[in-house]
Parts: sequence; structure tokens; C-alpha cells
Amino acid sequence: MWGICSRTAVAMPKPCGLLKPRHLVKPVSATRVAGRYQSHQKGLPSLPVPPLQQTCERYLTALEPIVEPEELNNTRKLLEEFQEAGGLGEKLQRGLEKRAGKTENWLSAWWVQVAYLEYRLPVVVHSSPGLVLPRMNFTNKQGQIRFAAKLIAGVLDFKTMIDNETLPVEYLGGKPLCMNQYYEVLSSCRIPGLKRDSVVNHAKSSRPPKHITVVHNHQFFILDIYNSDGTPLTPDQLHVQLEKICRASSETSSEPVGILTTQHRDSWGKAYQNLIKDKTNKDSVSAIQRSIFTLCLDGATPQVSDDSYRSCAAVQMLHGGGSRWNSGNRWFDKTLQFIIGEDGTCGANYEHAPAEGPPIVALIDHVVEFTRKLELGQSTTGSLPSPQKLRFNITAEIKKDIEEAKHSMNILADDLNMRVEVFGHFGKNVPKAHKMSPDAFIQVALQLAYYRMYHHCCATYESASLRMFRLGRTDTIRSASSASASFVKAFDDPSKQNTDKVSLLEKAVKAHRTYTNMAISGQAIDRHLLGLKMQAMEEKLSVPDVFKDAAYAKALHYKLSTSQVPSKTDCVMCFGPVVPNGYGVCYNPMDDHINFAVSSFNTCKETNAAHLAQAVEEALLDMRTLLEQTPRAKL
Ligand code: COA
Repeated sequence: MWGICSRTAVAMPKPCGLLKPRHLVKPVSATRVAGRYQSHQKGLPSLPVPPLQQTCERYLTALEPIVEPEELNNTRKLLEEFQEAGGLGEKLQRGLEKRAGKTENWLSAWWVQVAYLEYRLPVVVHSSPGLVLPRMNFTNKQGQIRFAAKLIAGVLDFKTMIDNETLPVEYLGGKPLCMNQYYEVLSSCRIPGLKRDSVVNHAKSSRPPKHITVVHNHQFFILDIYNSDGTPLTPDQLHVQLEKICRASSETSSEPVGILTTQHRDSWGKAYQNLIKDKTNKDSVSAIQRSIFTLCLDGATPQVSDDSYRSCAAVQMLHGGGSRWNSGNRWFDKTLQFIIGEDGTCGANYEHAPAEGPPIVALIDHVVEFTRKLELGQSTTGSLPSPQKLRFNITAEIKKDIEEAKHSMNILADDLNMRVEVFGHFGKNVPKAHKMSPDAFIQVALQLAYYRMYHHCCATYESASLRMFRLGRTDTIRSASSASASFVKAFDDPSKQNTDKVSLLEKAVKAHRTYTNMAISGQAIDRHLLGLKMQAMEEKLSVPDVFKDAAYAKALHYKLSTSQVPSKTDCVMCFGPVVPNGYGVCYNPMDDHINFAVSSFNTCKETNAAHLAQAVEEALLDMRTLLEQTPRAKL
């Protein structure tokens, strides 16, 4: 998923994180501010095309810690050829600059196409992240329904800010961010295709949807959440409607049609054509696709110990546990699915094509705080019509597709190894006290942990936001640097002095922060390289040798695929590895602890999520001890 991959030096913004509201996100105005969103967007700068020479130099530097010297020499030669005056590099660069002049963002449409819509592995585990919230305070069906009613009301409250264009603008490094992703996450859905998928967003249609879909016991329902006068249903009304849905679906069973969405995209593309041949099925699928979001009221889950609760909850959010549990109680193409179990487990799953984690988390932070403040009254039997159940006619062929999807989903569920750990010894506070970027400190700890396990450095991906630019998505921070390699090699070397190790640590952390600044200001290498390759394809030119190089393949084989997704709520996002022998690592650094979700595949004998999680914990502790025990030059 994330494995795809000048002018003069850019002024670097001061280190400063995404400005997170400390309390419930408050609208900037009580009433609609028409045009506010567009005028904000128009004021944002366009994504720059970095200078060709700068990217080539930075690419070579990034390869140093992860390839052999001969491979590096070969790449150097290829890059020289590529950059020859009047050569292919210059031609492609000119093409990119022209594209940048003609489009709102030269990269984003390509990125969505390559990273998501043409990516054919199942979205489940391989692309769509899960999000685990703290366990909520209920343990039965009644509690589940009550919480669900509050959650829907919380999302509607947030949606009002989107609809009214009163959502406060976010900032990073003092610069305003593109807010487009907020307008893409509700009322949208991915549609499977035979070779390439697409995404539809019904929020922008002339008749925006007024319903959500609720799935319970594998059965889908339309729940209208607005009254005919346009006012949202009250939480008490929602509660009554949800009770009706649960009553109507508890005793009946039906084929888990939703499990089809867990398939390999080519298989699902074919199965989809077959499914929607039937008019009833087509209408039902359309109702799901058009809905504002999907709410999954999950059935039972396996009994687990307190120690493994969060890891199991992460699995429930990421893939639903297989066909025996809740994988069929989903529509994984839906951009946003909230998931609520009967035992207080709660979270979400989102389809990645329209957005990154931060807008999703901001929405969820708002919802969680909203639910905390809301008290439900006594349920009354309202006069609202019962929610409509969505019907599916299951032919023998559809039944066969469902069985195949169950089988593949179960293999995938068995293969995924997920470990959620709360690192409770410290959070952002310790690196900050040592005047270091917490994110860089954590990334260097990950490098140390990996090196201790494997005795080499690997290509490492960290997502960096490009939202300072209009329609910006992400670029890659390459966390394995020459500076981090020097540090991790020295750390357990008894011949090295602690003062030297501290100096190497400082350099590694600084190098990471410098790369981060470079990435968020649009001057990193990966998306530019991808752009040059795409431009060659667009112009029907031969793909330059530099992209057929073994080093390029190595650089894109991310054995560590990582992402920081901070939040106000004590939650953690999770995702699968992006290569069969790799790890997915998502973390949420809070002030005094860090939530980690580490994943690997069981079929790979070299990797083990729990071992890496343990190694990261040890690395963080050892790095703190080093800093505490070593006098440092005055900072
Ligand atoms: N000394 C003291 N404090 C420092 C510091 C230093 N040298 N450097 C940073 N800090 C502080 C920051 O001011 C910030 O303070 P806050 O907690 O009050 O906000 C905090 O430490 C965190 O900064 P840092 O750890 O450097 O990270 P960041 O918040 O700048 O985030 C990225 C770095 C890469 C995660 C961020 O730029 C980004 O791109 N986020 C989006 C990633 C994304 O899209 N993920 C989802 C993919 S699905």
C-alpha cells in the first residue's frame, strides 16, 4: 500500500506537530459559512516539483544504509546517465513541471491511483487501517445499542461542521493545512473494478444521502438519521431505531454478503459484476455505497485475557476475526465503518483511498468526547418507520463467491499477527526534556530494535503529511539514514564511549527531523521519483533504468512500514505489513506513554510482532538510560 513509491534549499518550519484541539472540536461559526472551505483551499500553495539534481543526490544518500557498496555504485552511474544534459531525466522533469502548472496537485491523482485504486491485494489488512478505542463502559447488547446511538449523534455533530464549512482549519509547523480529506470521508465508498477500482463521493451530489447503513448479524439496514424537516434524529430516537434493527436481525440468519469485500480486488471486481446483475442486489449495494457511513454492531468475539485484549480488539477492527466471527459483518469498501462490540470493544476501520489517518482520528476524537458528555433518556416507542432491511438474492454463483471469500479471509486472519503494546514508562515528555523530537526519538528506537534483531538496517517508511499543499496526501520519511545506522551499530559496541553514543543519537534524531521537515515541505524524494516514472509512462517513453535497478526495488521493499497517528483519545491505529517479510508499526505518542500496534505475518518465519514490540520497548528504555547517565554538552 505504502510501498510505491530544485530550487534553492527550502526554509524549514520550526518543529511543531499537527495542532490538535485540546477539547471537543468547536465550529468556528454557529451557522453555515458558505464558500469558506473553497476560499481556504485557494489560499494554499501548490505542491512543488523538487529539482531533479536534488532528488537524485538525496536518493543516493538514502540508499547508503540499505544497499551494498557495489549496488550504490551502479545506481550512481544510472543516475548520472539519467541526469545527462538533454537526457530523459530533464525531459521528464519538464513534463512534471508542466503538469504541476496545469493541475491543482501534480501528484495526488496519480498517488491515489497507484497506491490504492490499482493496488489489487485485499483492502483488508493490506490497505485499510483499523483504529482501537479504549474499552467502553458497557458489557451487553443494551449497552452496545445505547453507545451506538450516542456515537451516531456524535458523528452527526461533526458532520454539521463539515456541511456548514465551519470546521476549524488545522495547522502544521505554523502553516494552514489542506482540509479536503474531511470532505471525502463521509458518504463515500470504494467501488471494485475488474482492473482498477474507483471511489464515489455522494456528499457532493444534488441529493446528498440522509441515511447510514447498520449491519448486525451480517444483515444490512438503512437507518434514516434525519427527520423530514432536516433536523437530525435525537440520540433517543436513534436508540429506538437501533433496537428495532437488532430485534429484526437477531433471530434470522443470512449469507454474509459483506465478506465479499474482503476478497482480492480482481476476484471482488468479478464477483461484484455478478452480484449486481440482480436488481434487488444492485439497489441494496447502492444503498450501502451511498450511505453516510456504516455502523457495525458486532456479535460475540473470542474470550481473551486482559493482557491480550487490545491486540484482539485491533484484530477485530482490522479484519473482524474471520468468517466465524465478524469479518462478514462489514462492508470493507465503505470509507468509514464504526465498529462496536457487545463487550465494550469499540473502534473503526477505514478505506484508505480518500484520506489519511489524522482526519479520521480528529473525527473520532470528537465523537468520543461527545459520547462522554451525552446522557440518554428513557427509550420511548417512537412513531418513526422501522429501518429498512436490505435484501440480497443469493444465486449459486454468489454463494460460491461468498464461500471463496470466507476461505481466503480465514487464511489471511490466521496469517496476521498483531501485537498492541502500551509503552508505559514515558511518552513525548522524555524526548522533549532532552530537547529531541519525540517522533524522531521513536523512529530511531525502531531502527535500534530492528538492528538488534536482524543485524542490518532495512528500508523504512514513515508517512509524512503533504497537507501544507492543496490536495496534499503524503510523502515518505526514510527513517533508515546513515546517521541512524552509525548510531545503532555503535549502541551495543562495548568499545564505544557513552559520550560518543549520545552524540551519535543526537545526530540520528536531528537527521530524522531534518528529513521530516524536508518531506512535509514537499522536498522528499519518493513521490518525485514516482512522478518521474509515471510521467515516462504517461508520455509512453521507456521506463528509465534507474527504476529497473535492484537498489530501487530494495528501497521500496519496506520491511518497516510505520506511521505516527496522534490523537487526543487514548487509542491506537493499526495496519498490516506491506511486504510478506515485514512489519507494520503504528504508534500514538501521548504525553507520558506511547501506544504501539505492531503487525507481522505468521507465514514468515523471520518476523514476529511480539518480538519487535519487545525490542522497541527495550530500545526506548536503553536510549533513555543512555541519556540520563551521560553528561551532555549544554544544549
Ligand atoms: N525539543 C522539544 N520539543 C520538541 C522538539 C525538540 N527538539 N521537536 C519537537 N518537539 C515537540 C513538538 O513541538 C510537538 O509538541 P506538541 O506535543 O506540543 O504538539 C511534539 O514535540 C511532537 O513533535 P514531533 O515528535 O517532532 O512530531 P510531529 O508532531 O512534528 O510529527 C510527523 C511528525 C512526521 C508525524 C508529522 O509531521 C506528520 O507528517 N504527520 C502526519 C502523518 C500521517 O499522515 N500519518 C497517517 C498515515 S495513515
